[in-house]
Amino acid sequence: MKKKGARRDEVIEQVEHHGGLRPGVAEAVSAETGIPAADVYGVSTFYTLLREPNVKRVCQGLTCKMAGADSLIDTVEGVAASCLGQCDRAPVSIAEDLTLEHADTRGAITPDDDALAMNLGGQDDPAYPNLARAKELGAEAFLAELKSSGLQGRGGAGFPAWIKWNAVRNESDPTHYVIVNADEAEPGTFKDREVMLRRPHLLLEGLAIACWFAGCTDAYIYIRGEFPGPKRSVEAALAAAPIPGVTVHIVSGHGAYICGEETALIESIEGKRGMPRLKPPYPTQVGLFGKPTLMNNVETLACVPRITERGGDWFRGLGKTEAGTKLYCLSGHVQNPGVYELPLGVTLDELVEAAGGYIGTPKAFSPGGASAGFLPMANRSTPLDFKSLADAGSMIGSAGVVVLNDTISMADAARWQQIFFEDESCGQCAPCRIGARLQRRAIDKYLETRDFNALKHVVDLHWEMEEGSICGLGMVASLPLVSAMKHFPEDFS
Ligand SMILES: Cc1cc2nc3c(=O)[nH]c(=O)nc-3n(C[C@H](O)[C@H](O)[C@H](O)COP(=O)(O)O)c2cc1C
Ligand code: SF4
Repeated sequence: MKKKGARRDEVIEQVEHHGGLRPGVAEAVSAETGIPAADVYGVSTFYTLLREPNVKRVCQGLTCKMAGADSLIDTVEGVAASCLGQCDRAPVSIAEDLTLEHADTRGAITPDDDALAMNLGGQDDPAYPNLARAKELGAEAFLAELKSSGLQGRGGAGFPAWIKWNAVRNESDPTHYVIVNADEAEPGTFKDREVMLRRPHLLLEGLAIACWFAGCTDAYIYIRGEFPGPKRSVEAALAAAPIPGVTVHIVSGHGAYICGEETALIESIEGKRGMPRLKPPYPTQVGLFGKPTLMNNVETLACVPRITERGGDWFRGLGKTEAGTKLYCLSGHVQNPGVYELPLGVTLDELVEAAGGYIGTPKAFSPGGASAGFLPMANRSTPLDFKSLADAGSMIGSAGVVVLNDTISMADAARWQQIFFEDESCGQCAPCRIGARLQRRAIDKYLETRDFNALKHVVDLHWEMEEGSICGLGMVASLPLVSAMKHFPEDFS
């Protein structure tokens, strides 16, 4: 038990030790930490796993919905949960201890191939030879390799890695932090899960290189709470091969999708509600505990060891239309859902071919998670890369590719995605909080009445949400509905 005056960032952990926000827990944690009970309560209610502990959860992500989540929820008598990051095994439920309960056994991985940048099917190396290589190269030469690699952040925004790394290194404050974003909660996305399970040392080696380069002695890995297996895998790897000179803190998320947004994640580590901050300042300037912070996605860091070993030009040359290979998560109506490492810029048809083909007649796909909306099969030859998908009015995001065949009504599919955004909005901006609700109500009303008038405000509302939201969630929250209406008018007639 912690004593009065415990650190603020321990509040969430303390509530978790008490088994979640049961009656009396806020008061107990307040007595132990000196933080007001109302504050403890306010923080805890933000997080699903604290607010509603010890229940079975049934995934309501798009792929699980298509695979029969509605009947599963009746069978297991669980509560509805936003996407659980297991779309390759849909439909899925997890037990009270967050371990997988009902899940398909599928879940393919690209076969072992040494020519790949991450090679999830290959062997992990706990000796971290590339950390030594990076140090031998020296900071300037290493940065030149990172720059020539063309590596763009794999967490969704695609920001060039070298710019962020260099910005943190150049900050004059002597304390710098590095954070690994392993919150992976975008519906359709489950690649970081596999990196942590299969190649934890690759991730830790990338982190080690980032800490050396950024001058950091304290690093954080924020892993979504519904991933106990990947967390154990990272913990075991860290125990077997600690990063020299760096204390690595592993922090669990507690069931809030928005905590994947970088500033919300920082707030969460600091023991607060995971509400995004206004930017600027950016985390590279004012990040964790007010210090310059380098945050990267798991996959971004997992690319770094091979870039160090084989050079930036080698990595860049792996791509088809843009630099490097990419971990594509493929689920929905395809033969072998799973994680496929392929050249960045393959088309949907090429990706699905690697997975054994379509099931039924494909009708639509979502190329980058719920945030990417839907595209029609007319885009089946569009390169799945950052620029081409942006030009098509969508995004690669975290490359959570979901295929929908012609058994699915796009009005239903849009509704499932709108429910996700309504549930996951943190609520601090009115356009996002109210807009997400109005969009969901609009599609509900349309499905109830089949009167197109129910949808007449949807496009205007989308504009207001895009313009008036603090973070990316509000900006894209209407996209599933708006894109479905645009590309599939026959489903809204
Ligand atoms: C609503 C929202 C959710 C996000 N979720 C994640 C996530 O789960 N994992 C992730 O790495 N990045 C996520 N991001 C992107 C992060 O804010 C940030 O751009 C990323 O961690 C930076 O790492 P990268 O440059 O390596 O991509 C999310 C962004 C938004 C707006
Ligand atoms: S846009 Fe939505 S999720 Fe993002 S900060 Fe505003 S209310 Fe929260």
